[in-house]
Amino acid sequence: MHTSQDYLTRQAETESNARTYPRKLPVAIRRAEGLYVTDADGRVFMDCLCGAGTLALGHNHPAVVAAIREHLDEGYPLHTLDLTTPVKHRFVEELFSTLPSHFAANARIQFCSPSGADAVEAAIKLVKTATGRSGMISFQGGYHGQTHGALALMGNLGPKVPGLMPEVQFHPYPYAYRCPMGHVDCGGCDCSAYTRQALSDPEGGVARPAGMILEVVQGEGGAIPAPASWLGQIRSIANERQIPLIFDEVQTGWGRTGTMYAFEHSGVVPDVLVLSKAIGGGLPLAVIVYREELDVWKPGAHAGTFRGNQLAMSTGLATLDFIREHDVLGNVAAMSERFQERLRDLQERFGFIGDVRGRGLMLGMEIVDREQPDAIGRPTGHGSLARELQAACFADGLIVELGGRHGAVMRLLPPLTITAVQVDAVCDVIGRACRTVQAARQERDLLVHV
Ligand SMILES: Cc1ncc(COP(=O)(O)O)c(C=O)c1O
Repeated sequence: MHTSQDYLTRQAETESNARTYPRKLPVAIRRAEGLYVTDADGRVFMDCLCGAGTLALGHNHPAVVAAIREHLDEGYPLHTLDLTTPVKHRFVEELFSTLPSHFAANARIQFCSPSGADAVEAAIKLVKTATGRSGMISFQGGYHGQTHGALALMGNLGPKVPGLMPEVQFHPYPYAYRCPMGHVDCGGCDCSAYTRQALSDPEGGVARPAGMILEVVQGEGGAIPAPASWLGQIRSIANERQIPLIFDEVQTGWGRTGTMYAFEHSGVVPDVLVLSKAIGGGLPLAVIVYREELDVWKPGAHAGTFRGNQLAMSTGLATLDFIREHDVLGNVAAMSERFQERLRDLQERFGFIGDVRGRGLMLGMEIVDREQPDAIGRPTGHGSLARELQAACFADGLIVELGGRHGAVMRLLPPLTITAVQVDAVCDVIGRACRTVQAARQERDLLVHV
């Protein structure tokens, strides 16, 4: 019998130095159910990371487990390349039924290799083929995955390597707490004007791109929802210039923000929709869905051995059925409100909580250092304090991830089925962590002044 520490030690000896989560969340997971994971020593944690938002219904949901059993019992294939099957047929029909009818009526779907980044790569290729243009516009703070093309679209400079896909222009993404236009009290000024102007200025240095890609709510960037007005402006800028608009809903798709897709909050519809994570019900699956006018690909123009994960289609379908049949979207809205109320209450008590934001069950709490204003007078993000908070939560049985600028945003991505009692339990842990961290800081300050 191995202990958690045995597994962790061996992991550190054998796995790549690129490993991330185990460094901050040293846990060897033995069992998992719903919100809870149990480590190899029998310690139970509440998991508000949920496979980075993949597990819409939490771990090993009975509906998902039953779908796996049924798939095997029926003798359905596990792998068929892009050949069709009854499971795939139903998956496509059901996925299309989640989309706005005018989009679905003229849409095409491409099954991609199984990760979100694979689907982003497909979207880049699609719009480049369709327009014959080469550049892309992405937005500051955006996260689209870590393959060579997707990484080039990422705002965070940390993981970038030399020689990424060229011709990517970064434009401001509306982040009122840390306004990209430098306004200290940004009441939601409209930075789409910058994009419009840059694309209109013959000497602006921005050529008409093959596509524009954005997250409707930035996830890794720190739980930042884009206002509907900005999305509407970006949509019209794209229309006026025939630039395909790509929404990367890898993290937001299928209920995370309280609607099936995050774009529904605004009514702004993309030309290309990128989906992964929740659509596979916890198993790897990724697709792009796009307007058929863009479908000028020649046969074989985009392929990949693992583009037809049949079992993931079954678990994805089970997830979708459950979301629809049990008013999961209603639960997301109610639990989001409850979370935000509790977190705002903490914000009033702890000065280092600068902002509480998000949409649905994609929430963030930005940790700041009010004594260290940045170049334009805003409190800087306090990454080390956020890490202390994350560690205090972990020690008290709660798994949360950090994201955003300087890793200063505590992110919450609980199962969409989380209950009120569980929300309270999660917030109780965060509250205790805030007190622990505050007390430790006060003690350190006292020592400095002795
Ligand atoms: C919005 C968004 N796009 C793309 C990706 C990349 O997905 P994957 O890690 O499966 O490649 C992620 C992953 O977190 C994401 O949040």
